[in-house]
Amino acid sequence: MSLLDLVLLFCVAYINIANCISNNATFRYTHFKETAVKENTCRNCRIIGASIIVSTERECLKVCIDEKTCRKVKLCNGRTCTMYEDGEDCPERQMPNQCKCFAKKRDCTDEGCSCPIGYYGNNCENVIEDCSHGSQLGFQDLFPGPTKLAYIKPIMSTEPFEVLCDFRNNGLTIFLNRNHKCIKMSFNRTMNEYGKGFGDTDFEYWLGFEKLKQILVNHNSFKLHFNLWPKPYGNQRCTRQYEGFQLGNASEKYAFHVTNSQTTMFDCGESILGNMSINGQPFSTYDNDSTDEGCATVMGCGWWFITHGTSGCTAANLNGGHGNITWLYNLAGVYIKFLNVGVIRN
Ligand SMILES: *[C@@H]1O[C@H](CO)[C@@H](O)[C@H](O)[C@H]1NC(C)=O
Ligand SMILES: *[C@@H]1O[C@H](CO)[C@@H](O)[C@H](O)[C@H]1NC(C)=O
Ligand SMILES: *[C@@H]1O[C@H](CO)[C@@H](O)[C@H](O)[C@H]1NC(C)=O
Ligand SMILES: *[C@@H]1O[C@H](CO)[C@@H](O)[C@H](O)[C@H]1NC(C)=O
Ligand SMILES: *[C@@H]1O[C@H](CO)[C@@H](O)[C@H](O)[C@H]1NC(C)=O
Ligand SMILES: *[C@@H]1O[C@H](CO)[C@@H](O)[C@H](O)[C@H]1NC(C)=O
Repeated sequence: MSLLDLVLLFCVAYINIANCISNNATFRYTHFKETAVKENTCRNCRIIGASIIVSTERECLKVCIDEKTCRKVKLCNGRTCTMYEDGEDCPERQMPNQCKCFAKKRDCTDEGCSCPIGYYGNNCENVIEDCSHGSQLGFQDLFPGPTKLAYIKPIMSTEPFEVLCDFRNNGLTIFLNRNHKCIKMSFNRTMNEYGKGFGDTDFEYWLGFEKLKQILVNHNSFKLHFNLWPKPYGNQRCTRQYEGFQLGNASEKYAFHVTNSQTTMFDCGESILGNMSINGQPFSTYDNDSTDEGCATVMGCGWWFITHGTSGCTAANLNGGHGNITWLYNLAGVYIKFLNVGVIRN
C-alpha cells in the first residue's frame, strides 16, 4: 500500500470533512454526505462500471474517490460497492434498508475541486440558478449526454435542491418527469403535495409549485417546453413550446399563463391553447377542485383543468394515471411512454 493510499484512507475515515497533506504536498480533501436509498427497479441507471466487492465502508468510499467522475456511491450488505455519475440518493431494487448511500460533496486536490453537478467555483462555492444558467456556463460540454441530476439554487431559494437538467439547447429545467418503467408514482395528490413536490427526481417526479415559482424569478421570461415520447414513434420524441410562461400565486391556485405557442420540430400538436385552452386556468386537485365537473377526481390527478363549460376537462393530461396520460391534439389514443416538461430561459 502506497503512502498516498494511506493518506486517502486516513481522510476517508472522517466522512464529513477530511483534510490531509502528504509528504510531497499533494493535498486531498474529500467530503461525503450520507444520503437516502430509495426503492427503485432501475438500480442500474447512471451507474459507472460494474459493482465492486469490498470489505469495509471506507474501501467503498475510496473507490469513489479514485474515480473522478463518481458522484455518489452505494454500499449494500457491507460488501457490494456501486458508483454513480450524478445525483443525491441511490436507487435499489430490493431491501433498500440493507444499503447505504454516500454523495460526494467535494473532492479537492492541488489541481482544484470536482463538485456535484450544479456546483462550481474553485471550492464548489457557487450553485447554478437553474439549468439554463448551467448551459450558459458550458455544462453541456462538461457533462455531455442527455439529462443529468443536478443541484440548482434559484435566486429566491435559501437552499440548493436537486432537479433533472438537460443542459443542451439553452438548458431545460425539468419540473415534471414521467417514466414509470422503474417506479409507479401516484399523481392523485392534494394541492399541498403539488405545492411541495413529490416523487423521485430521475423517474416519476413533480418538482412542486413553490420551487418552480422560485425558478421563474431567476430571469425575466421563460419558455415552457414539452417533450413527449409516443409509443408509435419508437425512440423519437415530439415537442411543443410556449412563450411567456407564468404561474399565479398560491391564492390564485397557481393559475397557468403562456403568451403564445411556437412551432417546433416534430410538433406534438396544440393541446394547451386552441381547443380546450387551459390558459388562465387555476390548478385543481381532488381536495381543492375549481372545476364544475370535479375534473381532478374524474381524471385522478391534479392539472390546470378547465373551470367552466367543457365536458372534456383538458386536452392535455400529463399527470394522469399510467395509461391515462393524454395529449388529445394530435396524439389522440396514442400511448405516451415517457415525457418531461420544463422551463428554458428566453
Ligand atoms: C506526489 O506523490 C505521488 C505518489 O508518489 C505522485 O504520484 C505525485 O505525482 C506527487 N505529486 C507531486 C506534486 O510531486
Ligand atoms: C396573489 O396575486 C394577486 C393578483 O396579483 C394579488 O391580488 C394577491 O394579493 C396575491 N396574493 C398573495 C398572497 O400574494
Ligand atoms: C386551495 O389551494 C390554495 C392554494 O394552495 C389555497 O390557498 C386554498 O386555501 C385551498 N383551499 C382549500 C379549500 O383547501
Ligand atoms: C376542435 O374541436 C372541434 C369540435 O370538437 C373539432 O371539430 C376541431 O377539429 C377541433 N380542433 C382541433 C385543432 O383539433
Ligand atoms: C384519488 O384520491 C382520492 C382521495 O384519496 C380518491 O377518492 C380517488 O378515488 C382517487 N382517484 C383515483 C383515480 O385513484
Ligand atoms: C383513467 O381515467 C378514467 C376516466 O377517464 C378513470 O375512470 C380511471 O380510473 C383512470 N385510471 C387510472 C389508472 O387513473
